[in-house]
Amino acid sequence: MKRNILITGGAGFIGSHVIRLFVKKYPQYHIVNLDSLTYAGNMENLKDVEDATNYTFVKADIRDAEAMEKVFAEHAIDSVIHLAAESHVDRSISDPMAFVNTNVIGTANLLNAARAAWKERGLLSPLGGVGGGRFYHVSTDEVYGSLHDGGFFTEETAYDPQSPYSASKAASDHFVRAYGNTYKLPFVISNCSNNYGSHQFPEKLIPLMINNLRDGKPLPVYGKGENVRDWLWVEDHARAIDVVFHSGKDGETYNIGGHNEWKNIDLVLVLCSIMDKKLGRAAGESAKQITYVTDRAGHDLRYAIDAGKIERELGWKPSITFEQGLEQTVDWYLANDKWLRDVTSGAYRDYYAGQYSKR
Ligand code: NAD
Ligand code: TYD
Repeated sequence: MKRNILITGGAGFIGSHVIRLFVKKYPQYHIVNLDSLTYAGNMENLKDVEDATNYTFVKADIRDAEAMEKVFAEHAIDSVIHLAAESHVDRSISDPMAFVNTNVIGTANLLNAARAAWKERGLLSPLGGVGGGRFYHVSTDEVYGSLHDGGFFTEETAYDPQSPYSASKAASDHFVRAYGNTYKLPFVISNCSNNYGSHQFPEKLIPLMINNLRDGKPLPVYGKGENVRDWLWVEDHARAIDVVFHSGKDGETYNIGGHNEWKNIDLVLVLCSIMDKKLGRAAGESAKQITYVTDRAGHDLRYAIDAGKIERELGWKPSITFEQGLEQTVDWYLANDKWLRDVTSGAYRDYYAGQYSKR
């Protein structure tokens, strides 16, 4: 079946893996990547698909309601996979309104554009699914808050967001469900744990540590390093998005995770030992860079996903072990030194923003 799929945030970390997967696997689909190219968006991430005949890039901002209407009309969009967001918790603490504007208002703009376009084309329906529209919101497990007494987040766990980032994602999830209930917009949501892998902006824990390890800089571990995260390889998340998009039931939520919990300090120590080997350092040398720093405000203690539903109902499970994924990730960053240098320099970002707005 032919589909015109709008993927937002496709120049970012997870979005670029989703775009690559869809463009290559589904030549019959037209994939429209809409991204405003913030500091986190990078056209280099998509070099290998940018000339594909089933792919179009649109530089636009989801905060711009008119631009959203235009893209639905110009490309006869019948499906959305929405990833565009401000995504970093620390930035949400220093600038919460950026998260309200993009994650909440931007998502509402997209929902309005989908609702109007799909109403006109008869794609709104309680059943949606094959032949109907599909609005897929890619969300986070952080909407469930913080686990303190063991257990796992399930799809039934009540929302209890604790940071401005997770509150903005929770709000956007609520808007998606409200549009489903009120306007019969066919939707599906997934809530995923922490991702790692190639092309992740080096502000998040794993690429930041790899970058600093390589440069001999301090490795800032927040608090005592005892917070726990459940890590999933980004390509396994992209595979899960493919499965949920094609086989997920309308109106349902799917939790996605790697059954792979790590205390931050233990994870940083593993990265140090991998880097000792890769950089030919003596065992224990890299760990000397570890520096305990002031804890993040309101730091969630533990996230852990029960991914039983997507495994049972849609047959998805992670494809590689954490050891394999981390090794591949470190190798990618070491082999892509220029990428790392470029994304950490403002001039690069400004250059690309200028380049693409001229098109
Ligand atoms: P990212 O920060 O790497 O990329 C975000 C992308 O969105 C960038 O390309 C950026 O240019 C674009 N963008 C930001 N604001 C925009 C706007 N106003 N208009 C248009 N484009 C805009 O993020 P990521 O880590 O790839 O996360 C993608 C999605 O997945 C987010 O919605 C995030 O909440 C969710 N998520 C992320 C993780 C994770 O571990 N990274 C886990 C679960 C869910
Ligand atoms: P991060 O990658 O920012 O993801 P999130 O906050 O969305 O889970 O952080 C992962 C964990 O690592 C989190 O507990 C905060 C911690 N952390 C550090 O200890 N030092 C750092 O420099 C960063 C960026 C994160």
